[in-house]
Amino acid sequence: MPNALRAEALQRVCVLGATGTIGRATAAALVRRGHEVVCFVRERSGVCGSLTQAEIARLLDGATVRVVDSTDTASVSRDGFAGERFDAVVSCMASRTGAPKDAWAIDHFAHLNVLDAARQSGVVHFVLVSAICVQKPLLAFQQAKLAFEAALIKSGLRYSIVRPTAFFKSLSGQIERVRRGRRFLIFGDGTLTACKPISDDDLADYIAGCLEEESRWNCILPIGGPGEAVTPRQQGEALFALLGQPPRFQSVPVALLDVIIGGLGALGLIVPSVNKKAELARIGRYYATESMLVLDPQTGRYSATATPSTGTQTLFDFYRSVLAGADAPERGDHAVF
Ligand SMILES: NC(=O)c1ccc[n+]([C@@H]2O[C@H](COP(=O)([O-])OP(=O)(O)OC[C@H]3O[C@@H](n4cnc5c(N)ncnc54)[C@H](OP(=O)(O)O)[C@@H]3O)[C@@H](O)[C@H]2O)c1
Repeated sequence: MPNALRAEALQRVCVLGATGTIGRATAAALVRRGHEVVCFVRERSGVCGSLTQAEIARLLDGATVRVVDSTDTASVSRDGFAGERFDAVVSCMASRTGAPKDAWAIDHFAHLNVLDAARQSGVVHFVLVSAICVQKPLLAFQQAKLAFEAALIKSGLRYSIVRPTAFFKSLSGQIERVRRGRRFLIFGDGTLTACKPISDDDLADYIAGCLEEESRWNCILPIGGPGEAVTPRQQGEALFALLGQPPRFQSVPVALLDVIIGGLGALGLIVPSVNKKAELARIGRYYATESMLVLDPQTGRYSATATPSTGTQTLFDFYRSVLAGADAPERGDHAVF
């Protein structure tokens, strides 16, 4: 882990989304470097609002915590920036569901509120955690993220737009299932997609490093973890190998997802509340068929070699530690994937 920075490099940083998976790790990475960190959080945070303010304060040890409604311009200025000077904003904030209405409200509009207020507080640098999947934006949440990326680039502030590949939590949903003796689920033959998994801590260090590393300024930064890209089949093989068992897979045809999406879409015309489920099924289909790697716009192909890597922690070491008894990641709404 990097040591604390020299005094002249230290900054006053506002962190958004600090109660989420990457936000927690990022707030800790910024505190470790010696920055003064102020986190804007909701009254009740965490998966399904499960964290109290006391728990949040413990979780974000070393940072100041302020309760702010990021969807309300007045609250962002009054309760958040509070007329004080800040050097940078680091945002890991995003809709927890990815449902269209929430994605536009958070990934786009709430970020616009923060951008506006940040400028008035003297912020010079805005680090945004986006996602590598916005390269091929077929889903509402991707379009919402892209719309804010564009607004940030246009704002004139220094920006670092970090587009990570897949997080460990999103690739860990089958650990328990396999441990209980069931087969590992794959779409097709399990080689339709690949990604370079990145750990929370490796990504957090990369995000925090954006404040000092000039090579990460005014850039869009696709980023994955160390080593080769892995397919879902390789994830399953690794899990079984760690358990000392021969691999056993259950293949699900992608066409089944199409049937589900079609059915929910049609029902959504009559029962609007079903539309959210239809969008979640579309998100599931997207991840079943699209790689989380850099996309070559000329060829339309994903490239592992074109996807930069950072860090040292691997997914398979993480699987080993969870199988050995470490806490499984809190997956929240990502459990649907
Ligand atoms: N999962 C992956 O594999 C993956 C891969 C690449 C990129 N990404 C992207 O990386 C980013 C961070 O992901 P993550 O998994 O760390 O997210 P997460 O765990 O779902 O956390 C989301 C954060 O945003 C906050 N937030 C949500 N709605 C809010 C609202 N209305 N007002 C204020 N704050 C709100 C949450 O606060 P509360 O605690 O109050 O809910 C939480 O702190 C996201 O943009 C995601 O799309 C994810």
